[in-house]
Amino acid sequence: MDESAFPSDIIERLRQARRVVALTGAGISAESGVPTFREAQTGLWAQYDPQELATPQAFRRNPKLVWDWYAWRRALVASVSPNPGHYALARIERHVSEFTLITQNVDSLHQKAGSRNVFELHGNISRVKCFEEDIVMDDWTEAESDTVPRCPRCGGYLRPDVVWFGEMLPPDVLRRAISAARAAEVFLTIGTSGIVQPAASLPLEAVENGALVIEINPVQTQLSSWMDFCLRGPSGIVLPALVSTVWPDSTRE
Ligand code: APR
Repeated sequence: MDESAFPSDIIERLRQARRVVALTGAGISAESGVPTFREAQTGLWAQYDPQELATPQAFRRNPKLVWDWYAWRRALVASVSPNPGHYALARIERHVSEFTLITQNVDSLHQKAGSRNVFELHGNISRVKCFEEDIVMDDWTEAESDTVPRCPRCGGYLRPDVVWFGEMLPPDVLRRAISAARAAEVFLTIGTSGIVQPAASLPLEAVENGALVIEINPVQTQLSSWMDFCLRGPSGIVLPALVSTVWPDSTRE
């Protein structure tokens, strides 16, 4: 993609912006080989709907099934690397005085790409906590073949430190994400279907406060009609091209 691919309004507003916010979803990790939530799961897990596994009720019903699904995803995430879309966002952070990266992803790929100011709305799959006490474990070992690890303090099951359907998001993280969205001069929504609340409302907070809002996604989403611009393409292609156009000196990084 070359400079002509981007409207001059996007280029100028990004160059001048002091406060830029990016909201990412599973789509930014797709080019790293991590399946998105709403595309078919592969292999052993193809028969399961993620929304049927990522709930406290599913864990109570069958802790081993849910634990093993997350162990499979943990191994997958540990085996992949950030893609050019993740690295492009880390470059933006170096050019903008106040850049906030709000992610729905639990895969640590933004941090691995060098992003520092990352708000994890839905937790992180590499962290594990006690299901009963809701306390994150400093260290733990993967399960034996037929068990789920238990808390050494209370004997309850351990679970991934991610936000399941029906659970509250970490209140402080959500509060700071809303505040950042309301203050944004430019808001990028990248690789998210815009279906799951409250994350899907963050771009609308930015709209209400006069930000320039830009969607990066190969297809239309529930957020598209609110956007000032929709850049239709994979984030691994669009984001590096956008960063190199807005900050030409950044290509040498
Ligand atoms: N680049 C950009 N976007 C992409 C790419 C890509 N290469 N590939 C796919 N996408 C887009 C899809 O078009 C889709 O709009 O990424 C989006 C992924 O949508 P979902 O699978 O719904 O993932 P997400 O929006 O992150 O889901 C939000 O729902 O299941 C819960 O907690 C889970 O955090 C997740 C939340």
